[in-house]
Amino acid sequence: MQLRSNFTLTIICSLLWATVTFSQEHLITVNTSKPVATVQPTMWGIFFEDINFAADGGIYAELVKNRSFEFSKPLMGWKIMKPDTTTGVMIINQSQTNPNNPRYARITLAHGEPSFGLSNEGFRGMGIKKGNSYHFSLLARQVEGSKVKMRIELISSKGEVNGTANLVPVAGNWKKCDVSFIATSTAQKARLNIWFEGEGALDLDMISLFPGDTWKNRPGGLRADLVQLLADLKPGFVRFPGGCVVEGRELETRYQWKKTVGNIDDRKLIVNRWNTEFKHRSTPDYFQTFGMGFFEYFQLAEDIGAEPLPILSCGMACQFNTAEVVPLDQLEPYIQDALDLIEFANGEPDSKWGKVRTQMGHPAPFNLKMIGVGNEQWGAQYIERYKIFEKAIHEKYPSVRIVSGTGPSPSGKNFDFASNELKNLNAQIVDEHYYMNPEWFLKNANRYDNYDRNSYKIFAGEYAAHSPKTVQPENQNNWQSALAEAAFMTGLERNADVVQLCSYAPLFAHIDGWQWAPDLIWFDNLNAFGTVNYYVQKMYSNNKGTEVLSMLLANKPVTGQDGLYSSATFDRHSDEIILKLINSGAQAQSVNVRMEGSKKPANKAKLTVLKSDDLTTSNSLEHPTRLCPVEQEITINGKILNQVLAPYSFSVIRIKQQH
Ligand code: AHR
Repeated sequence: MQLRSNFTLTIICSLLWATVTFSQEHLITVNTSKPVATVQPTMWGIFFEDINFAADGGIYAELVKNRSFEFSKPLMGWKIMKPDTTTGVMIINQSQTNPNNPRYARITLAHGEPSFGLSNEGFRGMGIKKGNSYHFSLLARQVEGSKVKMRIELISSKGEVNGTANLVPVAGNWKKCDVSFIATSTAQKARLNIWFEGEGALDLDMISLFPGDTWKNRPGGLRADLVQLLADLKPGFVRFPGGCVVEGRELETRYQWKKTVGNIDDRKLIVNRWNTEFKHRSTPDYFQTFGMGFFEYFQLAEDIGAEPLPILSCGMACQFNTAEVVPLDQLEPYIQDALDLIEFANGEPDSKWGKVRTQMGHPAPFNLKMIGVGNEQWGAQYIERYKIFEKAIHEKYPSVRIVSGTGPSPSGKNFDFASNELKNLNAQIVDEHYYMNPEWFLKNANRYDNYDRNSYKIFAGEYAAHSPKTVQPENQNNWQSALAEAAFMTGLERNADVVQLCSYAPLFAHIDGWQWAPDLIWFDNLNAFGTVNYYVQKMYSNNKGTEVLSMLLANKPVTGQDGLYSSATFDRHSDEIILKLINSGAQAQSVNVRMEGSKKPANKAKLTVLKSDDLTTSNSLEHPTRLCPVEQEITINGKILNQVLAPYSFSVIRIKQQH
């Protein structure tokens, strides 16, 4: 009796809930037998820039900051322990013999004095893991007649010793010496102390500490947890090295790829242009060592199955900064850099630059298919330079596709100018940037629906919903922004014949060292998490499909009617229909999706949902998966799928077809 009344109550409640919260039923049709466009394998990719400590202090696993004393202040990041008048450290500059890495430190010990040391603070501390091995190395030279010993220790912020090792550099000229040891405890913000004992003087350079558990266990490699987060996205491409770092604040500090390959000791360090860009997030200790250089970027792309997409300086420094340009008659070295890069990536092992790649351990080509000319340039000066690059690159490498750009805004005078010019020049792929508020993303899901199909292809190269305001430190990686991006991305996917590459930006941010927010992945020295925006990207990228299917509500694409957005693809490899459905409203919505095609859908499907009633929800280091996709099996009746879309939700549904 009791059971029956409970049951009746449940039914009444469910009916009430349904009538109260659903606005109306929506009939959406998907034509499953007639794909309307091809989805490029490159469709969803990643944008890598060394901003927010993404490379140095981030994915590049080096733990020592200012390892070669080349920062503007040679001892930045270092502390001298127990100095006295006769014992000390002197910075020597040998720019004539070693112009790329001129400075080194000389430690002089006084006879009978207690030990003396140098301490490195790492990048906002060093993350040390109990049981993990650490590899300490340096270039050292005992000054004639000296015998200086080194004692290495890792010390936590509480003063606990996390690991120790001893090292005695041999006599003679500069030599690399190293030692590995196992950490005995975990620390979030350890320091590296190096104690010197003995007599005489010791010269030091390239003082380095790497964890043993790098990605693929490569010595001097990348942080495995961060690479794994990228690999999990299954990205179609990796765009590198930026972003504004491509351009530099001035031409002098632009990214020059040739200076980032070859022997690590010879890669000339420069200031990172994000160093003091924002007063509110100033990071004067931010430099680019290029330990993560072009070889490493190509290798990363290869490791995670993505196409490499390098972007090169076109002879224009950042137009938000100095806006310096190279005169047109002096553009030749910049163009040569582009041509040589293609040879570095694809050339035979005996070609000049193919040989450099081969010597770095990669005789096989990297199979570069695309190259970007300039990052975020605008104005007539860009078009003039682009034309010269385009001619030179295509004359020598006609099959390499060139990416050009329309500047920082998705509309306006500069955008329109660049867009018209590039269209007239038959540009191949054009990069558009959208750092806009969530409302813009919701309103622009139809941006490419009526796009001129005879024009260039689109690279949605940098986008993120910024709330409360564009490029403000208060901006959050919350569900409001991610849901708006998910809605907008239905429009990118629906127009995959035009939109061929897309990447959220920026990619990484160190929790204590960032300059720009929002960002896709946040990390500290030991851990990392994907934001809610990351999960939106992942749901698209992992459910890409190979062809676009038409998906209509009352004969129109679903671009915000009653807060609904949708797109559909078909995956030729798995024979599945993939639906993406977004409910951007505060009420649940019931949709009937009718699959119109010759094949019958299976009666079970896989639903993956990302949802939260609270638009301020975000993930954090403490709660890395507070909001993440949840999977379940659902049932389909014949050719109609009835689905209730929860308020503020993004659903992906994969449906097999019956034969
Ligand atoms: O993603 C951060 C910056 O935004 C990029 O460096 C630049 O291209 C854009 O202005």
